Amino acid sequence: MATVVRASETAGRRSSTVLIVATSTIAAGKRPKTRSILLKTVMAVTGLIFVGFILAHMYGNLMIFAGKEDFNEYAHHLREFGTPMLPYAGFLWVMRITLVVSLVLHAGSAFALWHRAGQARTTQYLARKGQWATFVKRSMRWGGVALLIFVVFHILHFTTNTIQIGGDYDNPADRLVASFGEWWAVLIYLFAVAALGMHLLHGIWSAGMTLGLNTSLDAAERLRLAAILVAVVVVVGFALPPVAILLGLIP
Ligand code: HEM
Repeated sequence: MATVVRASETAGRRSSTVLIVATSTIAAGKRPKTRSILLKTVMAVTGLIFVGFILAHMYGNLMIFAGKEDFNEYAHHLREFGTPMLPYAGFLWVMRITLVVSLVLHAGSAFALWHRAGQARTTQYLARKGQWATFVKRSMRWGGVALLIFVVFHILHFTTNTIQIGGDYDNPADRLVASFGEWWAVLIYLFAVAALGMHLLHGIWSAGMTLGLNTSLDAAERLRLAAILVAVVVVVGFALPPVAILLGLIP
């Protein structure tokens, strides 16, 4: 605003003041919007990185149906992948660093957008907003927070072996089978998988919209179906090993 006053004094003309006020208003209105789009794009791209990881992780977990030995071999290969070009477990570390960076960017952008929405909210806005949209927004936020807490628990459980369920075993397959012999552990994982499914359902749709994939009604419908398909595959694929182990279907 100070720039406006100074400019009008220099120019000495009312019209130039009006012009500058108009452009500065547009610029001020545009800036937060551009920032929101940037934050949403970061969320979409990092979210798609997670989808890739989740599908690969789900495939890896399903190896338990091929037997404990195959599952352990898969876990071992994951560490040997890329050697000797990469050091032992090098690929795993590249993946871990990519995931941590993506997580920081994804959660950071989500919190920034959350904060912005809180600041911009007015009574009128709330009155206009549909109940369903509000529910989806809330479940994305709190579901995301729940997933974050789950991932910390999950890494302490399976990766670092800090939390031991059903006994102390030195290989991933025995840890998996011992853990899911406990019904409450299966319940925790099923809740997490359900939360992940919900998150993916809206997340994939939302990412597609942000990245401009909804170019026509048909394309929007395809995007919706893709989101449903990925969410269903992920929920079923992740739920199968714990449920099968609990039911004693894996020796
Ligand atoms: C029933 C569901 C799941 C099972 C049985 C499972 C199993 C496992 C196992 C056995 C490991 C250790 C792999 C190893 O060290 O060789 C692991 C690691 C991991 N899982 Fe899961 N997982 C499940 C769901 C999830 C979900 C829903 C997420 C994400 C939202 C997730 C994210 C991770 C991450 C980030 C790691 C660490 C990878 C690493 O740095 O080594 N998992 N999981």
